[in-house]
Formats: sequence, structure tokens, C-alpha cells
Amino acid sequence: MDERNVAGVTSVRIGRDNLGDVADGSEPLIAVLGQPGGSHIAERVVADLEARGIPVETRLLPDSEAAKSLAVVEETTAWLGEIGLKRDGIVLGIGGGALTDVAGFVASVYMRGVEARYVPTTLLGAVDAAIGGKTAVNVGGKNLVGTFAHPERVIIDVGVLERLGDDLLAEGMAEAFKAGLIGDSDLVVLLESEGIRADLTQVVERSIAVKLAIADADFKEEGIRAHLNFGHTVGHAIEALAGWSHGRSVAVGMVAAAAISRSVCGFDGEERIATALTSLGLPVTGPELERTDVHRLMRIDKKGDSDGLRMVLLEGVGSPLVSNVDTATLESGLDAIGIGGT
Ligand SMILES: NC(=O)c1ccc[n+]([C@@H]2O[C@H](COP(=O)([O-])OP(=O)(O)OC[C@H]3O[C@@H](n4cnc5c(N)ncnc54)[C@H](O)[C@@H]3O)[C@@H](O)[C@H]2O)c1
Repeated sequence: MDERNVAGVTSVRIGRDNLGDVADGSEPLIAVLGQPGGSHIAERVVADLEARGIPVETRLLPDSEAAKSLAVVEETTAWLGEIGLKRDGIVLGIGGGALTDVAGFVASVYMRGVEARYVPTTLLGAVDAAIGGKTAVNVGGKNLVGTFAHPERVIIDVGVLERLGDDLLAEGMAEAFKAGLIGDSDLVVLLESEGIRADLTQVVERSIAVKLAIADADFKEEGIRAHLNFGHTVGHAIEALAGWSHGRSVAVGMVAAAAISRSVCGFDGEERIATALTSLGLPVTGPELERTDVHRLMRIDKKGDSDGLRMVLLEGVGSPLVSNVDTATLESGLDAIGIGGT
């Protein structure tokens, strides 16, 4: 067993065949929340807990974003009451980022907060959503209602992630590559040289180290946590307007941000980034969209002033900065990803 503890508020355990770590054995009751895609993993964990004589109850939530609603929160918290979960009980979320987002939210509000533990079963969940203590559900807008609440424990079985298909792997690789660009140039080199089948223990450990360091320094996003949004200004607009997945939208957003970085601060790594993203199975040009719509969405997302937006840019690989970007420079970023029209 190859198991490590990564520093931070949360105990992050990255290993193989380590799902038994979800419990020590003294827990009075564990309420497992699962989702359809990762339910085979939840079943394994529950069977192990039962075999060890640990009291456990299980509830399957709807898949993906359908789980991130206040209606599901209400049903789930009512269920926690019915099964008799007390303040010393544990909510264990097993699934992708949508599932851990809602499990964390439920745990943070049920009885004013009980302990949450996560088993992320997608790469995006492991490198991003399960780390950093943001929980959320969608109310009108995406992630509009949520809490800042760290899980106490995150258990990542790299073997589970290695069995993911290329689509789900690529989703997580987009955020892992972003973590490298803003905080770990060695991770960028690793992903450049190994592509989508890069060693996941390294990818997960390094990405998490970047995110935890930033979240520890600025938990409530008053300063440098904004660096995690590299590629997300344009990315969120593409996600909302074209319905592209988050990882693919952010990949294209990173190419646009790299081009803007060239204009604003002389960054010369745009081609390097595009080549690496392609080898990670990610797109580097955007969908057909009206520019006026993209500008509108970016302003809603980032609350820019009348002539520009604050964006995360790169001075170099591993050196992010936040800068105001005027409309003409934004246009050059959209040119770079082939989003045309007005
Ligand atoms: N809290 C945060 O800081 C944060 C950060 C990034 C993303 N997020 C959130 O994470 C979500 C996206 O995460 P995601 O891509 O993991 O989405 P997801 O949870 O919707 O999972 C994607 C799909 O993969 C399936 N799945 C899960 N594990 C599987 C497995 N082992 N094998 C096969 N299929 C499996 C799921 O059932 C689902 O259909 C979004 O809701 C986003 O808002 C949160």
C-alpha cells in the first residue's frame, strides 16, 4: 500500500486499495451518500463497513447536477434524521464532484454541522471538488448556495481513478494542468511528457498540494484563491452558453487566458499549453458562439467594470497574477480560440 498524508486542514489519504480508511471502527453511524456512476464503489465500501460491524446506512442521490438542488438537500437531511444520525455521526460522500459538493453541503447544515468524509471517484473530484472546503448546490445559478466547510478526511484510491474512461480522465486533467500552470511547473512537465495516461498518483498528489496550499492561505477567497480561476472566466462563459463540460470549457479558457497573458505581460507559453492540452484529450478551440454573448457572460461571472475584466493571467508557468484586461485585449483572447462574430 502506497499511502500518504498531504498537509492541510483535511487529512487527504492517497493510496491503493485504501478505501477501508473511510472508518476507524469507532464511528457510531456512517451515512453513505452515493451517485449512480460511482455506486459500485459505494457498494464495496458499505460491504466492508458492514463486515467490520460499523453501523452504516446508504442513500443513492440523483446523478450529476440533478443531485445539487435544495430539494435533494431537504430529502437527504430528513433522511439523516430518520436514520438517527446524531452530532457525532459521519456523512460519507462517495462519487464525483457533484456528489461531494452536495454531501458536504448536507453535512455542513445538518444539526448545524456534522463531520464529512469524501471518497472522490472521478479525477475532477479528486484533484479539485473534494479539496479546499467549498460545498454547493445550484439555485437559479450554478453553485449559488453553499458553505465553506472542509471535510475531515478525503480518501483517494488511485486504482479507482485509473479505471476511468478517457472522457472522465480528461475532465480532471484540465484542472490538474491548471494546478500545474498556477503553482507547479514540474506537474506541467509531467503532463506534457506523459499525456492523458500520466501517473495518477503523482498527478493527484501534486494537484492537491497546489490547491491545499492556496485554500489554506486564503480559505474564503479574499485574495490568492482567485488564482484557481485561471481559464475559468472564458471557460464558464463557454460552459453556460454552449453546454460544454466544465473541463473542456476550462481547457479552451486557458488557451484564451494564455493569449491574453501574452498581450498583457509577455507570456510566451500559449503554444506549449495548447499542445499539452491536446495530448490530454482536451480541445483548444471554442464552439460557435456570438462574441456579444461571451462578453455578457464573462461580465456576469467576474463583475468587471465598464471597460474590462479582472482575470487571472500568467507571467510564466507557475507564476500567476491577477490583472485588469481591457475589451480589446479580451478580443485577442477570443481570436486565439476561434470564437468569432459579434
Ligand atoms: N467544490 C469545489 O471546489 C468544486 C471544484 C470543482 C468542481 N466542483 C463541482 O464538481 C462537479 C463536477 O465534478 P465531476 O465531473 O466529478 O461530476 P459528477 O459528480 O457529475 O460526475 C460525472 C459523472 O461521472 C459518474 N461517475 C462518478 N464516478 C464514476 C466512476 N468511478 N466510474 C464511472 N463513472 C463515474 C457520475 O455518476 C456522473 O455521471 C460540478 O458540480 C462542479 O460544480 C466543485
